[in-house]
Amino acid sequence: MENKVIDESRQGEAMMMESGNNSGKKLFLESYGCQMNFSDSEIVASILIDKGYTTTNDYKEADVIFVNTCAIRENAESRVRQRLQDYKKVKKNNKSALIGVLGCMAERLKHQFLEQEKLVDIVVGPDAYRDLPNLIDVAETGQKAVNVILSKEETYADISPVRLDNNGVSAFVSIMRGCDNMCSFCVVPFTRGRERSREPETIVRECKEAFDKGYREVTLLGQNVNSYLWTGGGLKKEILTEEQRNNATTFAQLLEMVALIHPDLRVRYSTSHPKDMGDDVLEAMARHENICKYIHLPVQSGSSEVLEKMNRGYSREWYLDRIAAIRRIMPEAAISSDIITGFCGETEEQHQETLSLMEYVKYDFAYMFAYSERPKTLAERKYKDDISEDVKSRRLTEIIDLQRKHSEQRTKEGVGKIHRVLVEGISKKSTEMMSGRNSQNSVVVFPKGNLKKGDYVNVLATSCTSSTLIGEVV
Ligand code: SAH
Ligand code: SF4
Ligand code: F3S
Repeated sequence: MENKVIDESRQGEAMMMESGNNSGKKLFLESYGCQMNFSDSEIVASILIDKGYTTTNDYKEADVIFVNTCAIRENAESRVRQRLQDYKKVKKNNKSALIGVLGCMAERLKHQFLEQEKLVDIVVGPDAYRDLPNLIDVAETGQKAVNVILSKEETYADISPVRLDNNGVSAFVSIMRGCDNMCSFCVVPFTRGRERSREPETIVRECKEAFDKGYREVTLLGQNVNSYLWTGGGLKKEILTEEQRNNATTFAQLLEMVALIHPDLRVRYSTSHPKDMGDDVLEAMARHENICKYIHLPVQSGSSEVLEKMNRGYSREWYLDRIAAIRRIMPEAAISSDIITGFCGETEEQHQETLSLMEYVKYDFAYMFAYSERPKTLAERKYKDDISEDVKSRRLTEIIDLQRKHSEQRTKEGVGKIHRVLVEGISKKSTEMMSGRNSQNSVVVFPKGNLKKGDYVNVLATSCTSSTLIGEVV
């Protein structure tokens, strides 16, 4: 079989192919990785449903199986490889079924994927989803189809996502794509390309449409939302005149535009970068009751030397100053973090600095990882991955244990208080209880009564488990 490679020079050839009539074909779409990937899958579904596809939850009956993949750590990639083994079986019964790999792992491995995983027919990077109908046509002729071109402009701004797999209450909305930060451990700049912001009017329109359909919470997504800047299209952020900068839309302004859609529409966002987190965003959050008082501010390490090697662009002191600003402007805000243990050359003292920073901040929640070296990153080229797996995992355990203590402590602080909760559905543990979240993102459960999804309710928390508040409607 010839490998059909769609690269810049040959794109025209593929574009010219007529898209066939695919009505009735079934698409199975599985997503891994961050919320941005899940949000991309909703774009993919929209593009293919437009072409007549229907979605199915059973991969065994699908005509097209797409896996939207993540490349952030080695184990994220292993999981996908294992999953592809399951899909192999489908090909035994249905020879014409197509298997496609989308997303970050597709972008990282490109054509290599076809050589390594012989059963994959289609490989598509995150900026090439508009080309999917063409690529499927190519693959249907028995050729392999690849498009991994990254774009400086693509934001899928005009595509209305098909909300998949959700509770009908919370929607995710991408406000930008890519990342320009080059943290030395991170593969994202290679898999998602240059940072670009999406036009604010299209964001506000999408959020408003979600509200009109009954959604009551939107989460604005980007790898570093604080560096969002809409300059009217095409203008480079680094070389703006003062006038252009004054006319540009910042993240703080965008947040307010979305918050003003309706007081009953909650606004969340992820992820903040400590180096770019300005007081303007915190002040905008404080001004609007419906902007949730929850900030995910990944620290990665508590040691300034490690942060320097990670190329994060801030020190321990800078980070703690940002924490102080949050506590000053929004004392009630919950704060969460991402932490990496065992980064190249991390000493025992530097590990202790991470623990002491955690002790100081007392995060409400944290995602914690052992460092996983990624090909092509700055760290892979410059530093040795020299902390043994044993030490990485011992340090990770220490961090997880400390965080568990802090999470429990933070949850307990919510007992005895009244929380405004957005009802998300029936509780997982009991059909007599409903569950939702407060502004700080804590899960709250309470008796069902006559409540329904999307309602707001005040709950007095009377007890808690390690991470959930339990209470009565007041
Ligand atoms: N843009 C976000 C993070 C995206 S990736 C930010 O800057 O905060 C999510 C998290 O995965 C990161 O915050 C980091 O903690 C973790 N991560 C990224 N690369 C990693 C690697 N090579 N090994 C282990 N963890 C990693
Ligand atoms: Fe990766 Fe850093 Fe960009 Fe986050 S900010 S996606 S960690 S390079
Ligand atoms: Fe993974 Fe790509 Fe997100 S690498 S974390 S899916 S941006």
